[in-house]
Amino acid sequence: MKRAKVSLGKKRSYNIAIGHKITSSAKDLIRGLRLGKDAVIITNPAILSLHKNAVMRGLRRASLDISTIKIPDSEKSKSNRQVIKIIDSIVKMDKGRGIFIIALGGGVVGDVAGFAASIYKRGIPYIQIPTTVLAQVDSAIGGKVAIDLRSAKNLVGAFYQPRLVLSDTSFLRSLPMRQIRSGLGEIIKYGVIKDRRLFKFLEENIKNILKLDKASLEYIIYRSSRIKAAIVEKDEYDKKGIRAQLNFGHTIGHALEASCGYSKLYSHGEAVGIGMVCASEIAVKMGLLNAGSAKRIIELIKKAGLPTKISRKIKIEKIMKAQSYDKKIIHGVNRFVLPVKIGKVKVFEDIPKKLIYETIRKRYA
Ligand SMILES: NC(=O)c1ccc[n+]([C@@H]2O[C@H](COP(=O)([O-])OP(=O)(O)OC[C@H]3O[C@@H](n4cnc5c(N)ncnc54)[C@H](O)[C@@H]3O)[C@@H](O)[C@H]2O)c1
Ligand SMILES: [Zn+2]
Repeated sequence: MKRAKVSLGKKRSYNIAIGHKITSSAKDLIRGLRLGKDAVIITNPAILSLHKNAVMRGLRRASLDISTIKIPDSEKSKSNRQVIKIIDSIVKMDKGRGIFIIALGGGVVGDVAGFAASIYKRGIPYIQIPTTVLAQVDSAIGGKVAIDLRSAKNLVGAFYQPRLVLSDTSFLRSLPMRQIRSGLGEIIKYGVIKDRRLFKFLEENIKNILKLDKASLEYIIYRSSRIKAAIVEKDEYDKKGIRAQLNFGHTIGHALEASCGYSKLYSHGEAVGIGMVCASEIAVKMGLLNAGSAKRIIELIKKAGLPTKISRKIKIEKIMKAQSYDKKIIHGVNRFVLPVKIGKVKVFEDIPKKLIYETIRKRYA
């Protein structure tokens, strides 16, 4: 088991435990939190049927009295209706001794369960047990919890840190390969923004990683978690421009997702992959990054099995328009996180529209 920590002072710091089958030996970590005996797992039926035994075995060792709330397996679960339903159920289970939440699942479960934890009785503790690569390296860490409104994703939310993150890499074995590759997109992102060594490890071990080799998975999830933790420590509330570095590849990535209506055409990680390719090419054209480094980034994205080309089904005008609605645009000025070398990015403003347009245009299949 590897451990990382999010240090946010005495009361709000928490551990991130990472490793194969760690849920079964997590009892000391859980007991150490002194959250009481009453826990409610929030998850979806698919995840529960796949991993119920392993999770229950581990949690019962921590002598917990466990209830379960199942929510539908869909982004639609990140809704105000679902949050109220969750809270109504918790009210019936809460014996007044102080119940806490265990979010077992991907980013959808983590976001909605964390949000419910943040508002029920003005905040009760919660633990994240992320079960997708994306959730283990990104959404479960850092306390951003939210639901969607019809007008935009993640519009209603809070900063509300979990008390523990248990990233059991054995749960990733049941994930569809497309999900694994998608999560790898975020891990490549961490390599480019902060960690040359992680990037090199990915280049050299991508085949083993795609075979879900235990030690490699543990290592890359550990390194990524550490980077996310360090960034959150420095800029918990996303106010200092440090957390913004995590948006590398996300400006064009989000525009791509939005312009295909969040359909199955591109998953988040796939869209971010293309976004990273475009951002790297923009950086080269602006003289910020050498062409060799951009080539390495693009090659690694390809080797991870992520697309680097844009489907002709999406019109370039739609992508440009979606981008102009991006929340990273402030007073009409766009903001891009661009690599200056592998392991370092900077935030740039007001990138010429023509340069963005031409870069995207050349990415069409
Ligand atoms: N809070 C944050 O900081 C943050 C950061 C990034 C993304 N997000 C949010 O995360 C969400 C996306 O998360 P995601 O990519 O994990 O998607 P997801 O939660 O929808 O999970 C993807 C699919 O995988 C299934 N699944 C989960 N674990 C599995 C397992 N171990 N085996 C088999 N199937 C499994 C789920 O049931 C689902 O069908 C979005 O709502 C996004 O807004 C939040
Ligand atoms: Zn992302």
